[in-house]
Amino acid sequence: MTQPVILSYIQVEPLLDAKNKGLQSIEVSPDLGLTTVTAAITPERVLFPDGETLSWQSIEKIRTSRVNCFIVEDNAVRPIQVFSEATNRMCSLFPTEHAPSMLIGGFVMHRIKDADPMQDTLRKIATIKPVIGRVLDTATGLGYTAIEAAKTADEAITIELDPGAQEMARLNPWSRALFTNPKIHRVIGDAFEVVPTFEDASFDRIIHDPPVFSLAGELYSGAFYRELFRVLKRGGRLFHYIGDLNSKSGGTVTRGALRRLQEAGFVRVVRRPEAFGVVAYK
Ligand SMILES: C[S@@+](CC[C@H](N)C(=O)[O-])C[C@H]1O[C@@H](n2cnc3c(N)ncnc32)[C@H](O)[C@@H]1O
Repeated sequence: MTQPVILSYIQVEPLLDAKNKGLQSIEVSPDLGLTTVTAAITPERVLFPDGETLSWQSIEKIRTSRVNCFIVEDNAVRPIQVFSEATNRMCSLFPTEHAPSMLIGGFVMHRIKDADPMQDTLRKIATIKPVIGRVLDTATGLGYTAIEAAKTADEAITIELDPGAQEMARLNPWSRALFTNPKIHRVIGDAFEVVPTFEDASFDRIIHDPPVFSLAGELYSGAFYRELFRVLKRGGRLFHYIGDLNSKSGGTVTRGALRRLQEAGFVRVVRRPEAFGVVAYK
């Protein structure tokens, strides 16, 4: 199946430059920077090799949006965003120079300052290396942590509350392995309810990458940490994203999280400021 063309202002700026220079074709990425194709340029439009065409007016619309990626469908563009009935929040695919992030209710779901979403993911994963055996990823988002974990683990179970967020992942070229890697099992549900259904000591690693405390307080609660402790194997490791540990709010949330993780039974909890989180050992 051919994949739809997905663009942001990053990809269309060179198209406009090429038009101004009078070029008749240009290399452009149809998938937010992953690959390139040759597109033909005419005074009226740009023609992609898959047959889609885009007017300069549509391209101008993409160029002026800094917060949306766009899908090209039937020779027109549509912003990749959805209002989620399940959570009453707007989700959208947020462009960066590299892998996109996602906005949920106005909050960006990955680091985009001093790191891009992929570097952010690699830093999280590096804290619990080697990532082996069976991995639980409590908050799918765009699936970057699940995809990275599944490169070395036997299996990754990943949970997403919001069908709207999963739709963003489905349209994101950087999330394709989330839907094609047979080692990844996606669950739609509330991690707070789904994790208690797992067996004791059934995971080697846990990646807990929730939204900020103000959006998802119960995922930072003692009750939830006790469940994470229960399902983790002895010798297992948990990475828990919290936010900038050195910021005022991050510091406060971290102190509470450290205490509750220890109360939940974790023998050692270590700050990992480079990954904006902590690692807890069982
Ligand atoms: C910070 S993002 C996760 C980013 C992800 N690790 C990645 O690599 O792209 C947090 C995600 O958790 C989801 N979420 C929020 N509350 C949740 C819950 N109770 N259970 C499961 N997922 C939840 C949000 O919809 C969002 O997609």
